[in-house]
Amino acid sequence: MELNPRDIVPEFWYNIIPDLPRPLPPPRDPPGADFSRIDLLRDIMPQEVLRQQFTVERFVKIPEEVRDRYLNIGRPTPLLRARKLEEKLRTPARIYFKYEGATPTGSHKINAAIPQAYYAQAEGISAVTTETGAGQWGTAVALAASMFGLKSSVFMVRVSYEQKPMRKTIMNLYGADVYASPTNFTEAGKRALSRDPNHPGSLGIAMSEAVEYALKQRWKYLVGSVLDVVLLYQSVIGLETSTQLEAVGEEPDVLIGCVGGGSNFGGFAFPFLGHGTKARLIAVGPAEVPKFSSGKYEYDYPDEAGLLPMIKMLTLGREYVPPPIYAGGLRYHGVAPSLSLLMQEGRVEWREYEEPEIFEAAKLFSETQGIVPAPESAHAVKAVVDEAMRAKRDGERRTIAFNLSGHGLLDLSNYESMMKRFKS
Ligand SMILES: Cc1ncc(COP(=O)(O)O)c(C=O)c1O
Repeated sequence: MELNPRDIVPEFWYNIIPDLPRPLPPPRDPPGADFSRIDLLRDIMPQEVLRQQFTVERFVKIPEEVRDRYLNIGRPTPLLRARKLEEKLRTPARIYFKYEGATPTGSHKINAAIPQAYYAQAEGISAVTTETGAGQWGTAVALAASMFGLKSSVFMVRVSYEQKPMRKTIMNLYGADVYASPTNFTEAGKRALSRDPNHPGSLGIAMSEAVEYALKQRWKYLVGSVLDVVLLYQSVIGLETSTQLEAVGEEPDVLIGCVGGGSNFGGFAFPFLGHGTKARLIAVGPAEVPKFSSGKYEYDYPDEAGLLPMIKMLTLGREYVPPPIYAGGLRYHGVAPSLSLLMQEGRVEWREYEEPEIFEAAKLFSETQGIVPAPESAHAVKAVVDEAMRAKRDGERRTIAFNLSGHGLLDLSNYESMMKRFKS
């Protein structure tokens, strides 16, 4: 059945919160706090975004202006069948991928940037800040800000800033100012630099810098992952996928996505839970940042400096400095609260893979499907390959759907290094 784009892009975002198997522990201020982090959210977030962060409604209306922008950037993104990969693996499994790399900024991140920039502009705000790891979120904010006539400043984790100079160029082209974090113009940045003048940076530190800067400048801070509201905005991915799969008469048996803070995974997989799916859900992360296997489920800060409210999540601790792996967007200490809860409940399985395995999976996908996945997304690809081989062993025609969260065309220098290091 041929579908019109307007029939696929949803009119409502899906919110997992009321459908969780038990109530989500709420964000809270630390005991004996010197100031209220929850009050601080009111200062740094657009009001409507903050309201939606705490909503318990199952569906939230997507404003027409936002839906128009989604259509404008090419949503719905394609749902493709990875036939050549299936053939290469000689698997009976049918593999589908949602290709978020087809957006202008090359990843899913734009889905959450557009509504936040829209609400900021609607509330009379003139400028926004954010942090970025691999550069994907920063690029999305830079574009969304320029769409709505806002100025933007992006704190980019230093290792990525150095590894991916072209990301900075794109952000500059969209009109954003980009700084290598840690910088010396925030207290959080200065503290990190005093510990190590060559600090590689981390998403947690860059987040603290962006929040502090927003406060100082009286701008708004746009949040790229982890918080419930970001997973809400990203639900557009899973809602579209569900309609697209239905149109080809498929129901997924396995749903797979990679996890940095959890936004593409949650956005992709949670709407299926809302439909009561029986599919297995598999979250994938790097073995080098072992938050699934070694993280504790406890209240922790999402940012390194502890400016944001504490949230209950799987965490390696806010001061954990992840090693400089190529998948910069997965270098984060925590997992979104709703996803953490579902992992605790055993509803979501996890896998952790090492870089050489990720590289092999990325190469296989590139060779067979012609799309170079972002190193972050290559984590999902590796789990897909394993699941396809498992279906082969079991002799079952399972339907595996995964989110290819971004392309890797701006990660080619990373791939070149990987090719030298991991060549078998
Ligand atoms: C392509 C891509 N995939 C995945 C992620 C991980 O983030 P999240 O878990 O919020 O989707 C990132 C983060 O920058 C990314 O750039």
